[in-house]
Parts: sequence; structure tokens; C-alpha cells
Amino acid sequence: MRVGILGSGLMGGKLGTIFARAGHEVIFSYVRSEQKLKTLARNAKGNARHGTPREAAQEVDAVFLAVHWSRVDDVLKKAGDLSGKPVITCSLPMNDDNTGLVIGHTSSGAEELKKKLPKARVVVAFNTVPSEVLFSVYEAKRKARRPSLVYCGDDQTGKEVAVELIRDAGFEPVDAGPLRIARYTEPFALLMGELAYGGAGGPELTYRFERLGNEAERS
Ligand SMILES: NC(=O)c1ccc[n+]([C@@H]2O[C@H](COP(=O)([O-])OP(=O)(O)OC[C@H]3O[C@@H](n4cnc5c(N)ncnc54)[C@H](OP(=O)(O)O)[C@@H]3O)[C@@H](O)[C@H]2O)c1
Repeated sequence: MRVGILGSGLMGGKLGTIFARAGHEVIFSYVRSEQKLKTLARNAKGNARHGTPREAAQEVDAVFLAVHWSRVDDVLKKAGDLSGKPVITCSLPMNDDNTGLVIGHTSSGAEELKKKLPKARVVVAFNTVPSEVLFSVYEAKRKARRPSLVYCGDDQTGKEVAVELIRDAGFEPVDAGPLRIARYTEPFALLMGELAYGGAGGPELTYRFERLGNEAERS
């Protein structure tokens, strides 16, 4: 698949690298320094290049959206028409200082994104995983036991694309149902972040993720 990355930071940079190593053709886009994009593409050691958000959206089979919520409108404007395109998003609707969700309970960032992109095939995936574990899960991917990863969406084609990318990244996809289920996965993602980075159980939780990868590697 040709996969365009909109937002090549912690999530987009790592998953784009993983998708390239898994054999996909990747276009990294949307960071503040072009040099960083070039370095990412070079270090991916797969079929990867850097490009504009428009190239990353138009010259691909699927788009991975990984920007801060405050940058969504800007990057979508730069990306252009996404009608009919599978858009896999991990972007959480966070406030500017990342202390809370700006949408929740009766809607979700994913559903708001769908309103902005009514004709795109929006699927939510990877939003519940701390970026720190992505490489170790990928490296253990050929082993029998894989960590589960929930995804949700209303579009079957988009979901099939997401399933392929989730598997290629080393996770076992778990279909959580329609896009509105993101109302529950987004707060869960915050819980993961809170425990992993802020709470007393943090290191232990991160360790459990890593241990899953290690166990998968051994089995
Ligand atoms: N990190 C995680 O573990 C994690 C887990 C689950 C979900 N998420 C969600 O995933 C999304 C991305 O998170 P992240 O941690 O990957 O964020 P990040 O590392 O900050 O990546 C966002 C990217 O957007 C780029 N960007 C920001 N402002 C820009 C501008 N004005 N022009 C061009 N590029 C700009 C940044 O460029 P620079 O590199 O130049 O700063 C960066 O590469 C967020 O919605 C977050 O809530 C993150």
C-alpha cells in the first residue's frame, strides 16, 4: 500500500517507519522542518520519502493522521480532498496544554473529524497505544502472541485497510464497532497516557506493554 503520513512526530514518525519496514510505500509529511522529514524518510530504511501534505494525501491508498487536535484543520486544508480515501486517525481531541479532552461523552474527536471529512473512510486506530511501545511490538511481530489493538469505524473498506496496517505493525486487531465507540476509546487513551506517564502505576503499565512484546518474542 502507499501510505501518507500527516503529522510525522512521535506517532506518525514511528508508525510511518514501521509501515515502510513492513513493505509499504510511505510519504512522511507535516513537521516544521523539512530536514527532519528527510532524515525520517532516510532512517526508515524502507520505501519511504518525504513530501507535502497534499502529496501524502493524494498520491496514496491510505492516510494516517497523527497531529495535535489544534493542527487538524490546518493539515486537512493542506491535504486537499480526501473523498473516498481511508483515513486512519490516532489524533485525540486534546486541549492546548494536553490536560484534557475537548470533546467527550456525547461525541468524540473521531466523529467530529468525520463531520469535517464526510466522504472519507474514517477509522480510529492506534490512539490507545503509547508511541514508546511501537517499535518493540513491531520487532516481536512474527511471534505467536501479539498485543490487541482496538479500532472502530463505520466504513468497511476503511476498516479493512486499518486491519492490514494494524497487523503489519505487530498488533492483533480488535473490531470495537462503529465510529461512535471512539467516545470510549479516546478517554481510555487518556487513561493509558495518565498511567504510563503521570500516575504511580505508570512505569509498571509501560513495562507490561513491553513485556507483552518480549513474551511474544520468546513464544
Ligand atoms: N504520542 C503518543 O504516545 C500518542 C498516543 C496516542 C495518540 N496520540 C495522539 O496522536 C497525535 C499526534 O501525537 P504525537 O505525540 O505524535 O505528536 P507530535 O510528536 O507533536 O507530532 C505532531 C506533528 O505535527 C507537527 N506540527 C505541529 N505543528 C505544526 C505546524 N505548524 N506545521 C507543520 N507541522 C506541525 C509536529 O512537527 P514538529 O516535529 O516540527 O514539532 C509533529 O511532527 C495527537 O493527537 C495525540 O493526542 C499520541
